[in-house]
Amino acid sequence: MNILITRPIPDAGIKALRAKGYKLDIYEKDAVMPRKLLLKRIKGVDALLSLLNDKIDGKLFDAAGLRLKVVANLAVGFDNVDLPAAKARNIVVTNTPAPEVSETVAEHTIALMFALAHRICEADRFARADKYRGWGPNMLLGTDIVGKTVGIIGTGRIGEGVVRRLFDGFGVKIVYSDIKRNPEVEKREFAKYLSIEQLLKTADFVSLHVPLLPSTRHLINAKRLKLMKKTAFLINTSRGPIVDEAALITALKKRRIAGAGIDVYEHEPEIPKALRKLENVVLTPHTASATIEARQAMSKLAADNIIAVLSEKNALTPAK
Ligand code: DGY
Repeated sequence: MNILITRPIPDAGIKALRAKGYKLDIYEKDAVMPRKLLLKRIKGVDALLSLLNDKIDGKLFDAAGLRLKVVANLAVGFDNVDLPAAKARNIVVTNTPAPEVSETVAEHTIALMFALAHRICEADRFARADKYRGWGPNMLLGTDIVGKTVGIIGTGRIGEGVVRRLFDGFGVKIVYSDIKRNPEVEKREFAKYLSIEQLLKTADFVSLHVPLLPSTRHLINAKRLKLMKKTAFLINTSRGPIVDEAALITALKKRRIAGAGIDVYEHEPEIPKALRKLENVVLTPHTASATIEARQAMSKLAADNIIAVLSEKNALTPAK
C-alpha cells in the first residue's frame, strides 16, 4: 500500500504505518506541500495523510485515481476537505479528535484567558522595554477571573474541557450556547443555557468552540460584537472565519470590547497588521494544539484511521 504524507509529522503515526509494511512517501520539507506537487505525487496512492492547510477537493481525488480509499486529515477540523466530493468517490475521510487534543486546546484557551485578564504579554513587553520604574498601585491593572461569567459557544469536547477546568478550579459562573442543550455541562450548579445573544450580553469572557460550517461563518459579526460588554474579552481557538476579523479589529480599536485572545485567523497564515499593532490582544499562530502529547496523539490516530480503512474495517474517527 502506498501512503502519501504531505509534511513530516510526529513519529507515532509514521512508526505505526511502517510497522504495517506500507510504503510511505513523505514530503521532505517542513512546509505546506505545493499544490502542483501534491497533484503529481498523489497519483496511484491508497491513502493520503493530509494537514489542515492542504486543499482536499475533487480535482485532487481525480488526480489520485481509483486506488485512493482514505484521507486521514491530521486535525480536529476538516473544513479543508470537500466531503461531498469524497463521498461521491467512496473515499473515507477521517479527523483526529484525540482526547489529548481537546485537553491541549482547552488548556491553551485558559492560557489566553489568563494572559488577557492579567495582561501578561503587555506586562512582558513593558518589562522588556525597560519601562519599569518601581511598583505603582495603578500600573498595568488587569482583572480577576474569580467570580466572573464565562460564556462558551459550542460545548463539544473542547468547550466542555474549558468548562470543566474553569468550574472546578476557578470559581466562575458558566453560561453556554450550543445547537442543543448539554447535560454534561448543566450538571454544574451554575451552568446556564442561553441564546448566543443573551450569552454575549452576559459573559465577561466569551470563548468559541464551534466547527467552521456555512452556518458558523461570521457567527461573531459586528452586530453581535456590539452586544458584548465593554469589559469583556473574546477568545477564539476554533477557526478564524467564525469571527468577522475586520469587525473584531474595529471593536478592539474602539474599545467596544476589552480585548481578544486569538489563535486562528480569517485568512491564514495572514495575521492582519491592524491586529498585530493592538495592545489589547494576545495572538498565537494557530498553536492551540501544539504540544508534543497532542501532536503525537493526532499522528497516531491519523495512522490508525488509515490502517483501519486499508484493512477493510470502519474508520475510528470518520469526519462528520
Ligand atoms: C485542529 O486540530 O483542527 C487544530 O486546529 C490544529 O491545531
